[in-house]
Amino acid sequence: MFALVSFLVARITIVFMFLFVIVNCIINKMTKKDFIIRGYEIFTLTPDLVEKYGNDICKSLDQIPRVDPHTKEQLLQAKSGDRVLYKKWDHSFLLLDEENFVGVIMGYERKSENNDQYPYNSIYLSDFAVAKEYQRKGIGKFLVKIWLDKNRIIGFLKLDGHLRFSVQTNLADWNEHVKKLYESFGFKKTSEKKYDNRTDNIYFLEVFKDH
Ligand SMILES: CC(C)(COP(=O)(O)OP(=O)(O)OC[C@H]1O[C@@H](n2cnc3c(N)ncnc32)[C@H](O)[C@@H]1OP(=O)(O)O)[C@@H](O)C(=O)NCCC(=O)NCCS
Repeated sequence: MFALVSFLVARITIVFMFLFVIVNCIINKMTKKDFIIRGYEIFTLTPDLVEKYGNDICKSLDQIPRVDPHTKEQLLQAKSGDRVLYKKWDHSFLLLDEENFVGVIMGYERKSENNDQYPYNSIYLSDFAVAKEYQRKGIGKFLVKIWLDKNRIIGFLKLDGHLRFSVQTNLADWNEHVKKLYESFGFKKTSEKKYDNRTDNIYFLEVFKDH
């Protein structure tokens, strides 16, 4: 009798666990929530989420000095000038604390250009910021790690090529912590790009098969 009850309890537990996993997968797929980690929820960024959190995203990105203010329309666009932002929605993520905006990290597949700065197809980290009240808790590092890990797995969806990541950031001394953050993940400075009011470092990270 005891054996039978134990057997039934075990079976019912397995069925409930199975149903729990299935229901969670369906809910996550519907909301595009990827996973919950350290109490924060990571979502693949979508145009709907930009509509909802666009102001928070722009405010966080506008902390970057000497860069034009960001707009929701700009976050939604599929091109930047002539450059096509290939597969942008597959390479961009949003971090929330319950319903509150915590951080954003956006990227796209950037086609090689006929210049010394972007000679290879790469997955380009285009926008990255953490809300002021969440800074200096390791979230920035965590977001870059998530972004690299996820993109290492999915790789290029549109462009061909050896997997390379690229990013650019202001070369000034006040930006030392951002430069160090990228370098800590193995990004190497490959060139510089001059604008009217600033100069940026350009970094590439090449990913080999066994990494
Ligand atoms: C860059 C940014 C995303 C970092 O986010 P964060 O959550 O504060 O980063 P972390 O807590 O993971 O800190 C990473 C490192 O930077 C250091 N750091 C973070 N902010 C710093 C600051 N204002 N001054 C000096 N060092 C700082 C941390 O001490 C940590 O160093 P460690 O690895 O030696 O411990 C955040 O400062 C930000 O949103 N800045 C404005 C937007 C921006 O500049 N984006 C980058 C565009 S290229």
